[in-house]
Amino acid sequence: MATTRYPALLVILHWLLALMIVGMLGSGLAVGSDLLPKMKQFQIIQWHKAFGVGVLLLVGLRILVRLWAMAMHKIPALPQTFKPWELKAAHLGHIGLYAAMIFMPLTGWLMVSSSPYGLPTMLWGTVAWPHLPGVAGLTWVNEVAKESHELLGFALLALLAAHVGAVAKHYFQDKINLLPRVWFGVLAVALLLGSTANATPYTALVAQSSVGFKGTHAGAEFKGKFDSWQTEIQWNPAELAQSRISATINLTSARTGNPTYDATLPTADWFNTTKFPHATFTSTKITKGAKANTYAAKGTLTLRGLVQPVAFTFSVVPMAGRTDGALRAIGGMQLDRLAYGIGAASDPAAEWVSRPITVTLDIVATPAVAQ
Ligand code: HEM
Ligand code: HEM
Repeated sequence: MATTRYPALLVILHWLLALMIVGMLGSGLAVGSDLLPKMKQFQIIQWHKAFGVGVLLLVGLRILVRLWAMAMHKIPALPQTFKPWELKAAHLGHIGLYAAMIFMPLTGWLMVSSSPYGLPTMLWGTVAWPHLPGVAGLTWVNEVAKESHELLGFALLALLAAHVGAVAKHYFQDKINLLPRVWFGVLAVALLLGSTANATPYTALVAQSSVGFKGTHAGAEFKGKFDSWQTEIQWNPAELAQSRISATINLTSARTGNPTYDATLPTADWFNTTKFPHATFTSTKITKGAKANTYAAKGTLTLRGLVQPVAFTFSVVPMAGRTDGALRAIGGMQLDRLAYGIGAASDPAAEWVSRPITVTLDIVATPAVAQ
């Protein structure tokens, strides 16, 4: 399955390090500004040194995991719509952030190792972190290290601002949300926090359900369906805040019954299934609809590496005559195919294929325990 998110360990390390580095920049600048009482400064520096060593060790681990993930092809490809300069800028920016994350603690370590005070670096008052050998008392090394540490601090701040700015630019201007690449699906987070405790897991019965799509081609309606997909459902109509739906759709399983359409759909300009074989949906919020047994779901749909917010309404009713607790959910939504770059090169003006594509859902699901 094509990955759309960094491996879990890299995601955890990204945010743990982000948090620690913001703390390091804050504490470093607080000391550097010389505004605090001397005793406070001394305490902050001891804290700063210990956490700085922690950053160094975690960055080492992150680089090893990153190399492993690269070798295993587990790094998600950037959206195809990125321009070549954007790909290059993202790549260079990330290399710069890695370099800053390595050289910040290294120059800090060199600074304290060559400091005229020769104070030990204690890791939370217990273990003494050794000094770098051969530099003790060398004032010129201390000065170079101190200067570099300070300059690197400002470079890291600038890189961080560019990094967050780039994520915001893609979100607001290009309507591309990159955050799910470094975050977990709502379901995973909910399971982690146990907040689906009052919802029941349901399993969708693929053979009795259908996930379809329709639009028009040259003015005539076409219809298709996906034969292969999976869902993860936590459902309780009385506890919608704890109910979640996520789905993975195998795009190679799209069938319209028309050989020309079926041959075109997997190609690079349409679903591009070689690079992005799956679409994924994750709900973020489910609320009650206006009529009885109707609901509205909001969430994100990832298609061709692009993540877009989507919303749809659906009804849920018990299946008559079934003893296995089966529910039937019927719903649908309209997607703008160009928001996902589908057919963007072949038919950008929608002269042939309609821009709105309707997705229809008719899902039969049973409580997972009854399986
Ligand atoms: C000191 C703080 C941070 C550092 C050092 C940092 C560093 C990095 C690095 C090195 C990567 C590339 C990961 C890789 O390819 O291995 C990355 C990815 C990413 N970061 Fe951060 N980051 C920081 C804070 C943030 C913040 C605050 C945000 C929120 C806006 C953010 C959002 C992202 C996103 C969305 C990606 C994935 C981008 C992509 O796949 O191209 N980061 N970060
Ligand atoms: C990611 C890791 C780190 C970051 C982001 C960071 C950041 C900073 C910044 C911004 C300053 C203020 C510079 C100035 O304005 O003068 C500073 C000062 C300092 N840092 Fe770090 N630092 C890191 C790691 C370390 C490590 C590992 C050590 C030592 C083991 C260290 C030791 C110091 C010391 C002693 C100062 C005070 C320098 C002075 O003004 O006398 N830092 N740090």
